[in-house]
This record gives sequence, C-alpha cells and structure tokens, in this order.
Amino acid sequence: MLFKPLLFLFTLAAQSLLALGFTNPIKSRDGSDPFMVYHEGYYYLTTTTWSNLQLTRATTINGLKTATPKVIWTDSTSSRCCNLWAPEIHWYTPASGRRILVHVRLIRYMQVCTRAEPYNVSYYSAGSSGTLDNQRTHVLKGSSTSIWDSNWSYASRIAIPGRDVWAIDSTVLIIGSTRYLVYSSWDGADQCIFISKMNSATSVGNTVLISRPTLSWERVGSNVNEGPAAIYHGGRTWIVYSASGCAGTGYKLGRLEFTGSDPMNPSSWTKYGNPIFQSANGFGSQPGHNGFFLSPSGNQIWNVYHANTASPGNCDGSRRTLVQMVNWNSDGTPNLGSPRALSDNIAEPV
Ligand SMILES: *[C@@H]1O[C@H](CO)[C@@H](O)[C@H](O)[C@H]1NC(C)=O
Ligand SMILES: *[C@@H]1O[C@H](CO)[C@@H](O)[C@H](O)[C@H]1NC(C)=O
Repeated sequence: MLFKPLLFLFTLAAQSLLALGFTNPIKSRDGSDPFMVYHEGYYYLTTTTWSNLQLTRATTINGLKTATPKVIWTDSTSSRCCNLWAPEIHWYTPASGRRILVHVRLIRYMQVCTRAEPYNVSYYSAGSSGTLDNQRTHVLKGSSTSIWDSNWSYASRIAIPGRDVWAIDSTVLIIGSTRYLVYSSWDGADQCIFISKMNSATSVGNTVLISRPTLSWERVGSNVNEGPAAIYHGGRTWIVYSASGCAGTGYKLGRLEFTGSDPMNPSSWTKYGNPIFQSANGFGSQPGHNGFFLSPSGNQIWNVYHANTASPGNCDGSRRTLVQMVNWNSDGTPNLGSPRALSDNIAEPV
C-alpha cells in the first residue's frame, strides 16, 4: 500500500524538477567563447580553457551544469599549440533528408550541402606560445557521424587568399545555399569583421571587410569587432558580434543586418547604432562572445554567451557561460534583452 503513494510523490518530484528549469551560469569556470547546438535529444556546448577545447553534452540545460566536459583537443605543434579560442562545431549532412530543411528554418546549422563534406568540423583559433600575434583559424574533423563519440583530428589551417594574417573567431554564415566564413582580423589599429565565400569546409575565397569598430561603444579599451554569430528570422539575417576589449568594462554585443543582395559587398551590411546586449543592473559583466542555438522544437532561438564575474573583467577562465531566450520586437528585429539575474529561474527551452 505504500508503493503507490510513494511512486506518486516521486512522479510529482520529477515533474517539478522539470518545471524548475535552471539558473545561470551553466558553466561557472572556463565557460569562455561558448557555442551550442541542440541535436537529437542533446545540447552540445563547446568552450575553451585557452589550453584545450571542451565539449559538454546533456539532455537539458540544467543537466549541462553537472555534466563532465570532455577535452576534445589539445595540440603540441608550436604554430598552433596555444591560446586556443572559440571552438564551434558545424556539421555537414548529405543533402537528402526532409529533417534537414526543418532545422534550416531558424538557424542554418544543418546545411543542405550541394557537395557533402566527408566529415563534421570544428573551427577554432590558435597560435604560438607567449604571444597573441600568431592567431589563425584552424579546423578539426570528427572521426564519425557522432559528434559525441568522435575523435577529433587536425584537418587544416584556413589560409585566406591575399590576406593570410591574424584571423580568429571563425563562424559559418549561410545565405541561400552558399556558405561564408565570417571571422575577425586586424586592419590597422582596428580589429574588424571579414567575410569570405567557402569553397569547402577548409578552403575559402577572397575576403572583404564588412564591419570596423567606428562607434564609441565599440572602442572601449581597444577597437574591436569579433565573435560573429549569425541569426536568421522571418527571412532576415543578422550578424551579432562582440565589441570593445574583452577585458575592462566595455565588452558587449552589436549587430549588422544583411540588407543588400551580395554578402561579399560591404554595403550589403548595415550596422545598428546601438548595442543589442550589454551588462545591466550589476549582472552579466561584460557579456559577449555569443552563439545562437535552437530549442528542441526548433521554434525558439536561444543566446549562449560568456560574462565576467566582476567588473572590470578579464579575458581568462573566470568567464562563465550563461544562456537565455531571444525574443522578437514588433518590427521583426531580435530582442536579446538584458543579462538575466543569476537568481532567475529560467524554464528549459521547448
Ligand atoms: C555530422 O554529425 C551529425 C550529428 O552527429 C550526423 O548526423 C551527421 O551524419 C554527421 N555528418 C558527417 C558528414 O559525418
Ligand atoms: C576513437 O579512437 C579510439 C582509439 O583509437 C577508437 O577505439 C574508437 O573507435 C574511435 N571512435 C570513433 C567514434 O571513431
């Protein structure tokens, strides 16, 4: 007679656990440069410690908080041993399934490739010991069709034709059926956003500069545009980027909108005059270097970002990972809100 009431209580407890959702941060140390995807029942979170790249997975956001990260990459090759930053797993699936199109609706991770890549990849930035001057974009490839079970091996450095210099924070932007590599590189005294058309997962064409830090809020500490992240909604495309120095008090998010017809034409990109996400109410110090991921139903877009525990902040492993949902303004533009308080109970994505 005891069994049924106990089972009932247990079920209630399990249900309220689900209803409880989660609180930020979801990774309280080494949560830097986060990127996330949801795929077939799991959230996959990539972050960096500077010396290795980590992958964490769980079936809920709350589960990520206690899941053990797996180190997917370290490297002793001197040209790319150090300062590992900004891992982003992008996977390629042969153009065959209807399932792929569903995912394409909001965030185009699941690309319908005209030519299927033989492997899934992770882009990341790395350089040599003792200096940040040799940072380049590198590519890892997975050994299997499973993101989690894969062993990752070195595929290539991405050499940008005519501009094979400092290049970090590479991400993939998809317009129509064309993939573009969008990344950050120095031009004079400014760290800017550049774009190149991709020939394959590891090779790109000529590059053009599409955003320079010209506004005062992009020039706090240093003149920086970095960490580009594409977001697609209602037929419109934006690139959200991080502005100002990652240390200090100025790090925040800004955005460009694709308002022209050719992504390789700098005039096709319109910069908004105000930031879209910044610290507020004492929370989320220097929020930035974000990524966007889809909820399990594919109907919500979520923002994953890192922030410092204190202000002024540093660009080190004390940065933590936080997530919250993206809302939409009546004019169709994304509304990232303000960093939510750490005491907020946030419902799991649906
Ligand atoms: C990439 O990873 C996804 C998810 O694990 C898998 O479905 C797909 O087959 C993989 N693609 C390749 C080319 O390995
Ligand atoms: C990863 O590498 C180990 C050791 O070589 C091997 O046993 C395993 O099958 C590999 N896993 C995958 C998914 O490729």
